[in-house]
Amino acid sequence: MDADARLVTVELDAQLSAIAQTELRDDRVEWVVADGCDWLAATTEAFDLVFADTWPGKFTHLDQALALVTPGGFYVIDDLLPHPNWPDEHQAAVDDLLATLRARPGWVTAYVDDASGVLLGVRR
Ligand SMILES: C[S@@+](CC[C@H](N)C(=O)[O-])C[C@H]1O[C@@H](n2cnc3c(N)ncnc32)[C@H](O)[C@@H]1O
Repeated sequence: MDADARLVTVELDAQLSAIAQTELRDDRVEWVVADGCDWLAATTEAFDLVFADTWPGKFTHLDQALALVTPGGFYVIDDLLPHPNWPDEHQAAVDDLLATLRARPGWVTAYVDDASGVLLGVRR
């Protein structure tokens, strides 16, 4: 992030957000305590990068999250490789999400088969 960059971070749990705010003091960061579903439904702002690190913007509200990304901008998700704590039906949801993103017109995707599994999407 350069000096003019802005980061908006949305967290449902106020306590977790408060801890993060004490650790990361930076005037460029806007801390939002809200349900990501509500925030995504209400936001029309454009972003150069969206990192969807929980259900909203990934397994729900995908269209809304992708719509926020500027042309040439990035959409990033992780936690895509199988994990022992996944419920039985989660693998199918991940497969479905990856297929949806790879087939999406106007986007180029690259999958990184490392760490927790990362998909990087770039809006044309
Ligand atoms: C995988 S963790 C990532 C946390 C943080 N981004 C990090 O990298 O450490 C997912 C976070 O999403 C939050 N969360 C869960 N459901 C949410 C929702 N509906 N809206 C916003 N945040 C949510 C959880 O409280 C948790 O802190």
